Amino acid sequence: MTVSSAPGKVYLFGEHAVVYGEPAIPIAIERRATVTVTPRDDDRIRLRAEDLSLNGITIEYDGTSDARPNVAVPRRLLDAAFGYVNEAIEQARDALDRSAAGFDVAIESELPLGAGLGSSAAVVVAAIDAATRAHGVDLDRTELAERAYQTERTVQDGEASRADTFCSTMGGAVRVEGTDCQRIGAPDLPIVIGWDGGAGETGELVAGVRKRREQYGCIAETVGTIGNLVREGETALAADDWEELGTLMDTNHGLLSALGVSSPSLDEMVWAARDAGAAGAKLTGAGGGGCILALDDSDRTVTGLSTTPVCAEAFRADLAETGVRREDEA
Ligand code: MEV
Repeated sequence: MTVSSAPGKVYLFGEHAVVYGEPAIPIAIERRATVTVTPRDDDRIRLRAEDLSLNGITIEYDGTSDARPNVAVPRRLLDAAFGYVNEAIEQARDALDRSAAGFDVAIESELPLGAGLGSSAAVVVAAIDAATRAHGVDLDRTELAERAYQTERTVQDGEASRADTFCSTMGGAVRVEGTDCQRIGAPDLPIVIGWDGGAGETGELVAGVRKRREQYGCIAETVGTIGNLVREGETALAADDWEELGTLMDTNHGLLSALGVSSPSLDEMVWAARDAGAAGAKLTGAGGGGCILALDDSDRTVTGLSTTPVCAEAFRADLAETGVRREDEA
């Protein structure tokens, strides 16, 4: 039995635009997905997923059938979750050169599904690491990140950047621009997260932006403007200048709204955080619902969000210095 965990992430800047080769800065956070893998004697996959959403669901599923458990989670989210796991197992089989390797896979996640905190990337990274190690193969982090990226790309119909998977594998703050992925130094920012209790559909949202970008020149320019904003954000990050970071986060949120990926609940939480005194606030990840992040070292933003009706949960998130972690070796 092998056990690997990987952290979720928030985007300080640059989601969506990163899909078109612009830079982005995601930051790994100390909320993890943990995957336990046991090799089987046959070629089947059995998946047990606990807390795939924060609702605390427990589901059993046989990866070789089309059956889906009857739980209070939207079918499209379940399909996405199973799709990511099945494809991660395919990547592990490919790395092992054992197309018929069977596995029992158990997932425990502290990350809400599809809410912009990188739950799928964390599950995929931890699953590939645990499944390959279960057969005695140690992938280095660069190969692990690449295989996790290929998994997301396949599940999202070819529309994914390396940002989520690289960040979850390496931990810390990272900068991703096309194939150029690096860890960067970053101060420990006072990150507050607000979650509306819901989720967005990454594939649909990314496809929607692609369509608008092809249709309207001003949307293509907006994507380029987000890239320029990220470059300015890098300077502010290096200078640990929260005022500047906050202003740029607010601007990034506005530009994401222009791309059509915000939602009433995300906008409401962003304004609640700003009204409470946060230096800045924006949605994180694909959008359409899910989470926002804000910068505030006082308790005011957590309190303000907690009393905002559309906010189901507000919490602080610490930077996760460690990316993928081998829990059975710790
Ligand atoms: C989703 O977490 C982030 C997006 O930029 C998609 C991607 O980078 O693959 C929307």
